[in-house]
Amino acid sequence: MTRSTLKRCVTASVIAIGAFFLGTNWLAYPVSARGEDPGQQAAAPTPTAEKPAEQAFKNIKALNGLPESQLAPVMNMISASLGVQCIQCHVKNGDVWEFDKDDKKAKLTARKMIQMTMDINKTSFEGHIDVSCYTCHQGHGRPVPVPSLPRPMPPANAAAPGGARPPEQPQINPQEVLAKYSKAVGAKEAIDKIKTRELKGTHVAANGMNLEFEIKLVLPDKVAVLVTAPQGAIAQGVSGDSGWVKNPREQRAMNNTELARARSLIWSLDPLPIKEPYPRMLFAGTEKIGDKETIRLRMNTPDKRRAVLYFDKESGLLLRRVLYTDTPVGSDPEQIDFEDYRDEDGVKIPHTIRVSYLDNFSTATRKITDMKTNVKVDDSAFAAPAAK
Ligand code: HEC
Ligand code: HEC
Repeated sequence: MTRSTLKRCVTASVIAIGAFFLGTNWLAYPVSARGEDPGQQAAAPTPTAEKPAEQAFKNIKALNGLPESQLAPVMNMISASLGVQCIQCHVKNGDVWEFDKDDKKAKLTARKMIQMTMDINKTSFEGHIDVSCYTCHQGHGRPVPVPSLPRPMPPANAAAPGGARPPEQPQINPQEVLAKYSKAVGAKEAIDKIKTRELKGTHVAANGMNLEFEIKLVLPDKVAVLVTAPQGAIAQGVSGDSGWVKNPREQRAMNNTELARARSLIWSLDPLPIKEPYPRMLFAGTEKIGDKETIRLRMNTPDKRRAVLYFDKESGLLLRRVLYTDTPVGSDPEQIDFEDYRDEDGVKIPHTIRVSYLDNFSTATRKITDMKTNVKVDDSAFAAPAAK
C-alpha cells in the first residue's frame, strides 16, 4: 500500500469514526474552507448561532434562507432519494472535498430540481412539504415514468403497498399509552433515584466496523463518550448547550447536528425520557415492528422537529423513536430502535440500541455490555480538554 493510499484509508476511517455518535465530519468543511483554525474553535465551545445557508456556505443559489444546520439533512435526503453518494454531484480533489464547485452537470440539475420541488409545494400543496425528491425518485437517479408490465393483479379490496390511506383505526388515548409506558419502565421512586450512569459496550457501524465505547452520563444533560479506535482515542463531551469533539486529527466545538445527535444519545439512555406532565401527543395509528404490534404517537419537539414514538401494545415499552427534520425539499429522518430491555436497579433499560440515519456513516448498532448506576462522575469528565 502506498503512503497516499494509506493516508486516504486512515482519513476515511477517521471520518467514519468521527461520525461515531455524532454526525458527519464533512461539516467541518466550511470552517477550514474559510481558513479558520479548527483548534481555535475548540477553545470556545459555544454553539454556533444559526446563519442562513448562503452565509455559512460559499455557493448557495437555491436554498437561500435555509438554516445552516439543515444543509446536512438536505444533502443526506437528496443522496438517499436518488440512491447516490455525494460524489455524484460534488468534486473531490484528492482528499479534499470542494462542495462549492459547480463542475458537475448533476449538481446543476439538482439545483433546478430543488427550485422545482419548492415551487410544486408552494403552488400545488399550499406550502406543505408534500412532495420531496423521494416522492418522484424513490432511490433512482431518474424516476421511473411508466408502470411495468405485466401489471401485478391488485388484491380484491386493493390498498396498494405504501399507497392508499390506511383504514380508519379506533382512537387510542395517548395519555393512557404514556401512563402504561411509564409504569412498564419501573416504579417512580426507582426511576427518580437514577442520576448518573457509566456504561461500556460495543458499536458496530453499518460498514461492519466494530468499536468499543465507554459512556459517562449525568442526567439530564451531560454526556462524555470515549471510543477506542485503532488510530487512537476519540472523545466527545456535552454539557448543557455546548459540546466538543477530539480525535487524532482535530479538536473542535460540536456543530448543531452533532449536538442534536448527542442529545439523542442522552435521551436513549435516560431511564424515562418522556416525563410527566406528558407533552401533547396525538394518536397516529398502529403498526407492526417485527412481530410486535405497536401504538404510534406523534408530537412536535421543542427544537421544531417531528417525533413519532412506537409503543409495544403488549409490554407498554418504547420500541422506536423517529425524529424528522423537515426541510423545504423533504424530511430527514433519524430512527432509534430499542431492544433487549433488561432490569437495572428496578428500571427497565434497553441494552441494544440501533440508530439509523440517511447518511452513510452514522447507522449503527450499540450493545451495552456493562452498566453501573449512580457512581460518582466528576464534572471534569465533560469539560473540553485544554487545546494544544
Ligand atoms: C444530486 C446532487 C447532490 C448530491 C448527491 C449532494 N449534493 Fe450537496 N449540493 C447540491 C447542490 C445543488 C448544492 C447547491 C444548493 C444551492 O445552490 O442552494 C449543494 C451544496 C452543498 C454544499 C454547500 C457548498 C457551498 O459551499 O456552497 C455542501 C457542503 C454539500 N452540498 C455537501 C454534500 C454532501 C456531504 C453530500 C453527500 C452526503 C452531498 N452534498 C450530496 C447537490 C448535491
Ligand atoms: C415531480 C417529480 C420530481 C421531483 C420532486 C424531483 N425530481 Fe429530479 N427528476 C425528475 C425527472 C422526471 C427526472 C428525469 C428527467 C430526464 O429524464 O431528463 C429527474 C432527474 C433528476 C436528475 C438528473 C438525473 C440524471 O441521471 O440525469 C437529478 C440530479 C435530480 N433529478 C435531482 C433531484 C433532486 C435533488 C430533487 C429534490 C430536490 C428532485 N430531483 C426532485 C423528477 C423529479
